[in-house]
Amino acid sequence: MKVLITGGAGFIGQHLARRLVTDGHELVALDHLLGQVHLDPEASVAAFPGEVIVGDVADEEAWASLPDVDAVVHLAAETGTGQSMYEVDRYRRVNIGGTELAGRFAAAQGAPIVALSSRAVYGEGRHGCPEHGVTFGAVCCDRATAEDSQEGDEHRPVSVYGETKSEGERALDGVTAQIPVTTIRPQNVIGPGQALHNPYTGVLAAFLAMLKEGKPLTVYGEGTQTRDFIHVQDLAAIIAWALTNPGDIGTHRVFNAGSGVRTTLVELADHAASGAPIETHGITHLDIHRAGDIDDACADMSAVAAAGAPMPQWSTRDAVADFIRSSWEKPGAPADAWDKALGELKERGLTS
Ligand SMILES: NC(=O)c1ccc[n+]([C@@H]2O[C@H](COP(=O)([O-])OP(=O)(O)OC[C@H]3O[C@@H](n4cnc5c(N)ncnc54)[C@H](O)[C@@H]3O)[C@@H](O)[C@H]2O)c1
Ligand SMILES: [Zn+2]
Repeated sequence: MKVLITGGAGFIGQHLARRLVTDGHELVALDHLLGQVHLDPEASVAAFPGEVIVGDVADEEAWASLPDVDAVVHLAAETGTGQSMYEVDRYRRVNIGGTELAGRFAAAQGAPIVALSSRAVYGEGRHGCPEHGVTFGAVCCDRATAEDSQEGDEHRPVSVYGETKSEGERALDGVTAQIPVTTIRPQNVIGPGQALHNPYTGVLAAFLAMLKEGKPLTVYGEGTQTRDFIHVQDLAAIIAWALTNPGDIGTHRVFNAGSGVRTTLVELADHAASGAPIETHGITHLDIHRAGDIDDACADMSAVAAAGAPMPQWSTRDAVADFIRSSWEKPGAPADAWDKALGELKERGLTS
């Protein structure tokens, strides 16, 4: 079938595109080649195995110029959590407005849509407590422990990015009566091709820069925060499955996409160091908290398994090492770019 991938020139889009071409599909991308993501836009276009139409998903006219398609994968988004806290209008326009237009286009085509939301909709996520039971969002007391997020959990985003992803999901509710709608909420996606020069995203790209410069890895706070990492190929497999197994019209299907394994930042730093081809220098802790950052995140993958979707194959350690190895020779931002991004947050009073 012919598949439109919005944001197809980006990290996840390029992996998904290679996967879908291998599966025999024909592709077209709608991407405005955001400068913050694409250092070399021509190379990004050349890498995409199909036509790339340059346009903004939040611009109604961009949708009018597209060919007919059989399915839509909506990936285009502004993705910097910290940056979202001060570029609010831009994030809302693209992530909510753009998603609404994607749904409208898919409905007009009679094409199923698979849209990427984010684990950010859960914010601090689900906690279990002997005193307060199951709670969502801010932690009830220090007896509570973090539990894996389920698709039906309450939305408690703590960043503007997370809010826009939550509202973006709602923006697709209107078309569920016309076409199959699937929302996928990835945890932290890692793998080759991840942006190395965008200091507004990605702790791993920061670790890579520090390792290359022979610096210790800076961990914000104690490093006991947990995250769930999914290899981009495992995510692409879930998206490809959702496309060829669309759900029923009338229901908005939602799936998590993580490894289902909790990794602390300190463990992540160890995994990253294990992938480095040179001597490494341990960890330093920086006592700072960034607005929009959460303590714990992990996906409950049981609904994905029950639906028959492909389960992640990469272990976290292998996925992290794969990212470090495949990115080692590639140009990226120097480690101090992350210090600068942190400085921008500090100036705006968004750290504590
Ligand atoms: N990478 C992750 O860890 C992660 C985690 C959860 C969710 N997601 C979601 O997955 C999707 C893809 O993310 P990614 O990691 O590939 O990011 P990316 O930045 O590499 O790719 C996004 C692509 O969208 C394009 N884009 C941005 N704004 C656009 C606009 N207004 N119009 C057209 N194109 C636009 C960019 O040029 C880029 O090519 C996003 O929706 C993101 O929120 C990613
Ligand atoms: Zn409690």
